[in-house]
Amino acid sequence: KQFDLIIKNGAVLTSDGVGRYEIGIKDGKIIQLSPSIDSGLAKEVIDAEGGYVMPGGVDAHVHIAQDFTSGPKGVMGKCADDFLTGSRSAVCGGTTTIIAFAQQNRSDESLLKVVQNYHALSEKSGAYCDYGFHVIITRPEVQMLEKELPKLIEDWGITSCKLFMTYSSMQLSDNQLLDVMYETRKRFMTTMIHAENGDLISWLTNKLEQRGLVEPFYHAISRPPVVEMEATHRAIVLAEMIQNPVLFVHVGSASAAQIIRNAQTRGFPIYAETCPQYLHLTWDDLKRFHSPKCFENSKMICSPPPGPDDSDQEALWAGLRNGTFTIYSSDHCPFRYKDVHGKALGVLQHEQSLGSARCPVDQEHLSEILDDKTGHFKYVPNGCPGVETRLPLLFEYGLKTGRVSPERYVDLVSTAPAKLYGLYPIKGALIPGISDADLVIWYPNDALPSFKLTNANLHHNVDYTPYEGMEFGNWPRYTIVRGQIVWAEGELRASASVGKYLKRGTNQLATRPTNSIASDKRRVATWLYKA
Ligand code: URP
Ligand code: ZN
Ligand code: ZN
Ligand code: ZN
Repeated sequence: KQFDLIIKNGAVLTSDGVGRYEIGIKDGKIIQLSPSIDSGLAKEVIDAEGGYVMPGGVDAHVHIAQDFTSGPKGVMGKCADDFLTGSRSAVCGGTTTIIAFAQQNRSDESLLKVVQNYHALSEKSGAYCDYGFHVIITRPEVQMLEKELPKLIEDWGITSCKLFMTYSSMQLSDNQLLDVMYETRKRFMTTMIHAENGDLISWLTNKLEQRGLVEPFYHAISRPPVVEMEATHRAIVLAEMIQNPVLFVHVGSASAAQIIRNAQTRGFPIYAETCPQYLHLTWDDLKRFHSPKCFENSKMICSPPPGPDDSDQEALWAGLRNGTFTIYSSDHCPFRYKDVHGKALGVLQHEQSLGSARCPVDQEHLSEILDDKTGHFKYVPNGCPGVETRLPLLFEYGLKTGRVSPERYVDLVSTAPAKLYGLYPIKGALIPGISDADLVIWYPNDALPSFKLTNANLHHNVDYTPYEGMEFGNWPRYTIVRGQIVWAEGELRASASVGKYLKRGTNQLATRPTNSIASDKRRVATWLYKA
């Protein structure tokens, strides 16, 4: 047969527009896109019945199999998803590519070894979708960077790194940020920045603690918008000086978005990402379980925190429309709630710090403690799960409401992240002869009765979702990874042998810096990189 699979009657949606096309797939690739293809030429046919058919989601920010417990305080939690459960959750929500983090701890001397370790984990468990890595650099030693970055790029196709301006176990000084940016700039790597001023956070945390204000809600009070604003502004100053492309991850406030917008207007290659939690959660959610058991608020703890009310949300929606945000990622950070490595850990640590812990801690003991104690926000691992709900949330609350156009929708969830991280047009596009057959097919309008989401609907290894109870009228009906149907009508159809490791290229967006160092002698970078 000429085709392995044909998709008929779809409203084919890309970042360029919508059209009535039929899609022919062979050997994992899209090989034909035309008004009509003869069904007799295919081994298998899917009738999309008029529903949207689009490139599979590319989630460029997921935490998988990361262990934060080796930090100095030893309280930052451990990811509950490995590559198997994390990628399973991804495909059940329409995502066909994930980029996870290979995290260097301060005891790790080699980034290459770190990457090898994460890669070994993914090979061992397998994955339901394709995946790549960013490296998190916490030891920015220049010699190591000079030696290892070229190997990361050539051998592993890792063309991006993440740097932290907060968390004592990861925080870099300005000097260290510059050291990394100087090296990544030479090699056209994209630097991802977690922009929060760690010193402000620890000062505020101590002050709140002295006043006894330690319940999970105060996590938000310990990180007011100036914390994100200052760090964002500072990182932009550093990036402008070095002329290094940076991406601000998980932007949570209107004020940080405005600072980014201003820098973009000056023409610098500054990119930004926002995430579902900042469009859907507010301080009310941090107080949602307020009761003697108010430690349950810790489920919603993430950094930066969501805003106080929906005014930041409106500004972030505007930023998704007007291009301030290049991409929309989940920041899936899968900590379980009732787990000794999870969010309730805050409860235990608080007890221990008061000298009243009923330890040794085990699962059984944990439930007992959870029944009558509240936790201290500073011990709660930061982050929320969301790899599976990312596409459906933006579909329901963005595309369907008209807050973002259908084309912008595809760009934000798939095409732009593929371009930014060097995967386009193999990923993020439907170009015959070139693109992988990674697809999401949605239900036709009103074909799926609307339902209230509950965590039992999801396929991650986490015991809660921040979006419990939210209403959905559509969901990915089919997810196809390189021609294989992995998710169909609510059922997982494939095994975890589908996913492959992706070597990536460099940033393909139009505003990337070029190799020729500007001759403008007022630019510091002109002098720094002179031969
Ligand atoms: O709170 C968050 N965002 N946790 C995940 C780790 C990170 O900083 O992205
Ligand atoms: Zn971060
Ligand atoms: Zn993250
Ligand atoms: Zn105990």
